[in-house]
Amino acid sequence: MIRLIDVYKEYDNGTKALKGVNMRIDDGEFVFLVGPSGSGKSTVIKLITGEIAATEGRLMVNGYNLNNIAPRQIPYMRRTLGIIFQDFRLIEKKTVYENLAFVMRAIGASNRELRRRIPYVLQLVGLDQKADRYPGQLSGGEQQRVAIARALVNNPSMIIADEPTGNLDPQRSLEIMMLLERINELGTTVLVVTHEEELVNKFTKRVVAIQNGRIISDETGGYYNGEKV
Ligand SMILES: Nc1ncnc2c1ncn2[C@@H]1O[C@H](COP(=O)(O)OP(=O)(O)O)[C@@H](O)[C@H]1O
Ligand SMILES: [Mg+2]
Repeated sequence: MIRLIDVYKEYDNGTKALKGVNMRIDDGEFVFLVGPSGSGKSTVIKLITGEIAATEGRLMVNGYNLNNIAPRQIPYMRRTLGIIFQDFRLIEKKTVYENLAFVMRAIGASNRELRRRIPYVLQLVGLDQKADRYPGQLSGGEQQRVAIARALVNNPSMIIADEPTGNLDPQRSLEIMMLLERINELGTTVLVVTHEEELVNKFTKRVVAIQNGRIISDETGGYYNGEKV
């Protein structure tokens, strides 16, 4: 579960990115976080992942209280999250399989665990035939599916995707969202940041809309220009 209570974020240069944000995401939910460029979406994500700290307010992430978390606990908190970015961030010199093996080994998984888990997640994202390819040999949509597999491979309780379809065409974008929907149906909580309203409107999901550092609506169903339709 994620909770933000009266969260404010002012960057060092004085930019007030968040102005009192309250948000709660329960286990098992699928949530779109939408809003125009500069509205504070990525700031919310970076606070949740612990990349930046809030100026004011309280944050709870999957049982960890980020206001008083010990630095040595932060890696354990992060392991509860699988994070996906717009630009994929795969290791170009490693194959698809090796990209996944790398993040499993980083948390001490055994070779036996790798051999069991990696084929499963690659099959889930539809890339079991491409385990030996390098990222440069894959399309953008396929690379993003590798990034999703990598986010899932250590079995996080929540997937967070910040503009995951920003570099993809509409059909590939829809496929990625449908894959995230399927992953949610299998039990993982999903939080997707996007500014693509048309794509959001293809689903009937909870939509949290942020504008100018404040949440302006939180509804399940259609969304257009910050208004429920
Ligand atoms: N590291 C930073 N330093 C100063 N200002 C920042 C920084 N990161 C983001 N901002 C500003 O904070 C506001 C919110 O940014 P961001 O959360 O990235 O918005 P979004 O992801 O919705 O486009 C914007 O005005 C942006 O310019
Ligand atoms: Mg952003």
